[in-house]
Amino acid sequence: MNNLFRLDHRGYIDAVTNHIPGWLHDITALVSAQMLERQENFGIRGPLFEIGVFAGRYFSLLIRSGANAGDQVFGLDTFQFVALPAVIDHHLNHIHQPGIVTLITGRSRDFSAADLMARLAAPPRFVSIDGSHEKDDVLWDLGLADALLHEEGIVAVDDFLNPLTLGVNEAVNLFFAAKRQLAPFAYVQNKLFLCRPDRALAERAVLEASIIDSAEPRAIAWREAAAKDKGNVEGRMFGAVFTLVV
Ligand SMILES: C[S@@+](CC[C@H](N)C(=O)[O-])C[C@H]1O[C@@H](n2cnc3c(N)ncnc32)[C@H](O)[C@@H]1O
Repeated sequence: MNNLFRLDHRGYIDAVTNHIPGWLHDITALVSAQMLERQENFGIRGPLFEIGVFAGRYFSLLIRSGANAGDQVFGLDTFQFVALPAVIDHHLNHIHQPGIVTLITGRSRDFSAADLMARLAAPPRFVSIDGSHEKDDVLWDLGLADALLHEEGIVAVDDFLNPLTLGVNEAVNLFFAAKRQLAPFAYVQNKLFLCRPDRALAERAVLEASIIDSAEPRAIAWREAAAKDKGNVEGRMFGAVFTLVV
């Protein structure tokens, strides 16, 4: 086991994740690491999958969880901005796990859910959607996540509510206007987190417990806002109530 994976969440994010180029808020990295650790502790097993790896910043959290649990980790990207060899040999060189990590080159819309299931071999317990920000592409990626996700899995949709990526917002709205088997349970700085509708209350409770335990500045601000009025830290959308960390 790579010693970096033995660091606590804060230590790993500081030593590894935050040194990789990309886009990720600290509180979102921390909360994601906690969600992944909970899956490991509760025996929720399955591959981890990211659409849109770039240099591997968020992917570094998925690699750590996959290595800890012995689960496979898949990344799909066009690698048009950071070439695949640079991702493996440079950005992820300290943590790359050749037996665990598979990077696939391509556009997500060129893959059906059946194509991906053939590669992943089991329903993924965690799916990160952070590839193209065009409406049709994101809608496709949401459909893939819905078709593939483990019954106790989590989907992270990046750049929701970002005014620079309105295609993501439009796709999320279209996705939730139609029949689907995912519901939002949290929005944490730039990422909307989804799960199966019957899991949403449980996922919210776990997330809020981790925020209540945390000494991070955003977590402290969340607790202060929640103490004034719980409605300050709740969003309502598509018939769901979800936890807001903004
Ligand atoms: C915002 S970056 C991803 C950031 C990354 N998740 C991180 O943690 O820093 C978007 C990535 O999606 C890739 N991409 C763009 N269009 C894509 C598509 N249609 N399918 C898969 N990946 C795509 C780009 O090459 C780029 O690396």
